[in-house]
Amino acid sequence: MIVVSDMHFTYPSGKPALSGINLHIQKGEFVAIVGHNGSGKSTLARIIAGIERPGRGCCTVNGIDTRDKAKFLELRKTIGIVFQNPENQIVFEKVRDDMAFALRNLDLEQKAIDERIESVVKMMKIENFTDSFELSMGQKQRAAIAGVLAMQCECIVFDEPTAMLDPKGKKDIQGIITDLNKKGFTIVYVTNVIDEVLAADRIFILASGSIMHEFKRDALLDNVEKLKSFSLEMPMIMDIIVRLKERGIDVDASARTVSELVDSITNVGRNGA
Ligand SMILES: Nc1ncnc2c1ncn2[C@@H]1O[C@H](COP(=O)(O)OP(=O)(O)OP(=O)(O)O)[C@@H](O)[C@H]1O
Ligand SMILES: [Mg+2]
Repeated sequence: MIVVSDMHFTYPSGKPALSGINLHIQKGEFVAIVGHNGSGKSTLARIIAGIERPGRGCCTVNGIDTRDKAKFLELRKTIGIVFQNPENQIVFEKVRDDMAFALRNLDLEQKAIDERIESVVKMMKIENFTDSFELSMGQKQRAAIAGVLAMQCECIVFDEPTAMLDPKGKKDIQGIITDLNKKGFTIVYVTNVIDEVLAADRIFILASGSIMHEFKRDALLDNVEKLKSFSLEMPMIMDIIVRLKERGIDVDASARTVSELVDSITNVGRNGA
């Protein structure tokens, strides 16, 4: 679905932001790209989404070279991006006008536009959202995701989509993204919050503009030292699992949520009784 080959990117200031990036992301996969501030995450997200062009090397999405101007519309129908600050994505005062604007670029008839909008606002449970600027941050982010869904893209890049949200807003958006992946959407999730990578199938560590390491989520426990070597914490749930194991409590290392962990401990207790 997404192939990035020996891709380099330098901003006009002359400072390289990305160098030698290689990525293969399969259709339907959920990958997380984790890295500290300034590691190049947003630059990579924008290049994958075709907003920025690679300086050297190339990036293709479903076989479309993101540099190919003639395929720009096709690319927009294939991959979308949701930014950290949803306000950067709002153009019109009315939520539905904002969604319609992007759809008009696809040369759709008004009826088809209206149908798409009603379908996604229902799916995102935002039927009652009217004024874009009168929404909370979390609501604006839901509207931004709905806007991308209305484009019927198969793949969505999320650049720190929960950074401006409160804990409930973060959970809501993470739940929505996980559900989208279950429905078949390919997800590229950029974050600097290690706990957020748990939803992904595969995790890439980005540092100083290069992919330094890659591993499957199920191998997270084996990659603790690697995370530490890039000054990344372990997800809290994994930290608890490691500490419990160190104390001889045999818990299910695949637990990803507090409930799963508690269930696993409770079952261990019952089995041992
Ligand atoms: N518009 C720009 N012009 C010049 N340099 C830039 C620009 N945007 C980013 N950079 C530089 O490119 C590098 C990577 O920036 P980028 O925004 O991709 O990092 P990031 O990992 O997304 O950081 P953050 O976690 O703060 O969002 C940084 O060194 C940054 O200073
Ligand atoms: Mg960023």
